Amino acid sequence: MSAQAPAAVSQRRYEVVAPPAGASAPRARFASDAGMLSLDGDWRFRWSPTAAGEPDPLGDGADWPGFPVPGHWQLNGFGLPAYTNFQYPFPVDPPRVPDANPTGDYRTTFELPADWAGGRTLLRFDGVDSWFELWLNGERVGDSSGSRLTIEFDLTPFLQAGSNLLAVRVHQWSFASYVEDQDQWWLSGIFRSVALLHRPADGIDDVFLHADYDAATGRATLRADVRSAGGAASVSALGVGAPEVSIPELGVTALAGETVVVPGAEPWSAESPRLYEVIVSTTAETVTLRVGFRRVEVVGVELHLNGRPITFRGVNRHDFDPQNGRVVSRELLEADVVLMKRHNINAVRTSHYPPDPYLLDLCDRYGLYVIEECDIETHGFDLVGWRGNPSNDPAWSEVYLDRMRRMIERDKNHASVLVWSLGNEAGWGQNLEANGLWVKGFDPDRPVHYEADVETRVVDIYSRMYATFEELESIGTQSEPRLADPVLDARRRGMPMVQCEYAHAMGNGPGGLADYEAIFDAHPRLIGGFVWEWYDHGLAITDADGRPSFAYGGDFGERRHDGSFIVDGLLMPDRTPSPGLTELAAVFAPVRIAVGEAEVTVQNRQAFASTAAFAFRWTLTDDGREIAAGVLEIPPVAAQERAVVALPELSDAHGEAVLTVVAALAADSPWAEAGHPIAHAQRVSAAGAAPVGGAAGAVIVTESGYRVADAEFDAVGRLVRLGDREVVSARMDAWRPPTENDRYVSVTGEPTMESVWREDGLDRLEERMLAVSVDEGAVGGAQLVVHSRVAGSATDTGFDVEYRWASVDGALRLRMSAVRTGEWSTPLPRLGFTLALRQSDPGSVPVSWYGYGPGESYPDSTSAVLLGEHSGTVRELQTDYVVPQENGRRAGVRRARIGQLELTGPVDLTVRPWSIDHLAAATHASELTAGDVLWLHLDIGANGVGSAACGPGVRLADRLVLASGVLDISLRDIGVSRM
Ligand code: GAL
Repeated sequence: MSAQAPAAVSQRRYEVVAPPAGASAPRARFASDAGMLSLDGDWRFRWSPTAAGEPDPLGDGADWPGFPVPGHWQLNGFGLPAYTNFQYPFPVDPPRVPDANPTGDYRTTFELPADWAGGRTLLRFDGVDSWFELWLNGERVGDSSGSRLTIEFDLTPFLQAGSNLLAVRVHQWSFASYVEDQDQWWLSGIFRSVALLHRPADGIDDVFLHADYDAATGRATLRADVRSAGGAASVSALGVGAPEVSIPELGVTALAGETVVVPGAEPWSAESPRLYEVIVSTTAETVTLRVGFRRVEVVGVELHLNGRPITFRGVNRHDFDPQNGRVVSRELLEADVVLMKRHNINAVRTSHYPPDPYLLDLCDRYGLYVIEECDIETHGFDLVGWRGNPSNDPAWSEVYLDRMRRMIERDKNHASVLVWSLGNEAGWGQNLEANGLWVKGFDPDRPVHYEADVETRVVDIYSRMYATFEELESIGTQSEPRLADPVLDARRRGMPMVQCEYAHAMGNGPGGLADYEAIFDAHPRLIGGFVWEWYDHGLAITDADGRPSFAYGGDFGERRHDGSFIVDGLLMPDRTPSPGLTELAAVFAPVRIAVGEAEVTVQNRQAFASTAAFAFRWTLTDDGREIAAGVLEIPPVAAQERAVVALPELSDAHGEAVLTVVAALAADSPWAEAGHPIAHAQRVSAAGAAPVGGAAGAVIVTESGYRVADAEFDAVGRLVRLGDREVVSARMDAWRPPTENDRYVSVTGEPTMESVWREDGLDRLEERMLAVSVDEGAVGGAQLVVHSRVAGSATDTGFDVEYRWASVDGALRLRMSAVRTGEWSTPLPRLGFTLALRQSDPGSVPVSWYGYGPGESYPDSTSAVLLGEHSGTVRELQTDYVVPQENGRRAGVRRARIGQLELTGPVDLTVRPWSIDHLAAATHASELTAGDVLWLHLDIGANGVGSAACGPGVRLADRLVLASGVLDISLRDIGVSRM
């Protein structure tokens, strides 16, 4: 018998590279008096691990379980989430996808409202991941992809009286997955709202508002291009029956297509987000939009809004919710926008797709500049040398253009959207170029952005991600390396430049925000940037031990994944602001304050608004105690101006004098109440010379060793008891639980900090006591002098350490000097003394300190903290980064009280209810458990944090490169002996 020829497996519908079929033309989104019926709610659902089997669209799924729409199936009990940054989780074989293609069948029924007679009925999907087809009453209506793009289908020919059965089949993988390779969880299903829209005959299908503001003349104009259901593509000529346009608040009326001057209109900006209601009506329909009058232009190397240069102080934002993935509620979206405003953020890049549409309404209303990005990313082709990249394959041109059109048509009326972005990390090619050209023709009033258009062939703004400080300086001074083509080079060199991503906020960091901001400020060509990124996308899970936790790549058993790169935001997954966000708020502050000897300088960094919205207060403290306070009368400082005002006569402080000036909202605003702090600055005047010494106590030789003050030492000079507390460990230390920034090779190719530190043995320091003696003749009184060597196994680098213990005024004073010996080439993670004390429930121990706070700070993130009195429990002083790592350092602590222990510095203080090793070994914050030891890290200094996880490492100035250091502290246990 001859073998049968193999039958080809036919191409699957979801593998056909094509724009949506059966869909209606994309159009703007607006409120209308025509009917709308939400189909969100409980649908019937069947999940299959493969795409096999025909859908049976007449089956009503009555025996299937209920399922939430919108919702991702992986977060509702079907299949599992998976995370990859940019490697495709399937073979790179476009347009084919694996046979194991999870598939969801959905069913719902609806009846049309009785008053929808006449006209048409559209079905709108705002987001379905990744490819779907639909049937109404058993008849195929069409199919679509473009997960984060709105699509509408005209159901009119398929409708029947009474109940209508809607069947939707969604595939997890499709040809479209190749162009949706954004760095996020792979999550599928109908994840945004679904609605039925009544379109009356002669209704208004589309409106394109062209609202301009000429800053030179103060003249605002409006033209509303309208496409009516009657069929005219655009009513640009006046005619009888043309839709009417009005702005009731300003008493303006016009006809569609007519350009009218709008007297008295105030311009829109993020600082003053003035919107006006615009009503467009025909006899059949009235629609309402909100318009902001503004003009965006690239002028030379600057980006202008309403005639003034603007700077983006922005963040990259994905739609994200720890329980629901990319299903985001209106409340969450509003909370996001409010939180951004409260942190002095003025811009959002909608990385890397159009957001839930409500976000843009909020950006218009609250005032945030938006770079809206198209749902296109093919980054995974990078791993195969960009071979077969859809961006450069003509077969994909219609798919690309469809995506661009659907984004822009939906969102073209938003005042907040200043710039269109062609996508992210999709390489370069003719389809992107064509999209750019199409945008310019369709909407010449907004510049085009795309970071990978390296030669700036179609974009209007030069964009870079994770450029080093040095590269930024060179771009700022227009001295960056040349492009080969002199014409292209000249064009690019003459453009503004944006960092579409910078300051990767993964774990503890980013460091260097203030340095970036200073560089942006110094060069008009640098129009700011967008920190990567707003959220840690940790999914809420319960860990194996039943504790609540946040999942990242690998936690769902993915065979290939990118670990914790998904948790790299300024907000913890539960939306707690990280220290990085607090730092960002200080760096992005719209005013800069400098406190001099007798005057205060206020620089207004806003583009439009004066400082009239801010009230300035000052306080004077003497060694942390407030001795005077008042209001600083500062007449409004115009945008981009500065003013110097005299300080009032201030009484003398006896100790350290700290003059703090805080700018806060003078009145309630939509996003924060009066008194919300906006900016701060301090002037610290060194304390007078501290009284030297005090009553010296003796060093007593005991049977087992020595006693100094209320501390006991063993025979080799190791501290074993402090007051009535057992000392678990007490020695010089230089290790920190690596931050995620310590774990990555920086963009400049430096090896990871963690690897060099481990090579130097810092992760496993051991101490060898060398000598112990009593120095009776020491200045200030007797001292117990202990010498030791501290070093790690397998290295000959280490530290020569000398501890000098003395009793001063009944307290235990330690002077520790540590000298690095051997061949060191690296900065240290930290340098100091670790003291571990037996303590039950260490997390609950109260801590109060006079030093920098209230939050943690590191040498390259010091803008948010203030010198003053702060307090919290030990537990509250921990920052629960999703991946446990170094955190919690309080710098410049002059004095502290930790439970019953009094500490005098200055010292950098970290208190923990767990050890460094426990912190370093834990992979999720939920694994951290407090024991019965309180860990104190009393440090001379620390290395900065940088942002090497994606970007440059720690700048030289912020590295701990010292060859030796001296710590001088005293400790007193007031729980005992003073009775
Ligand atoms: C960029 C990318 C982002 C994100 C970031 C690293 O290359 O555009 O989506 O992956 O790197 O977190």
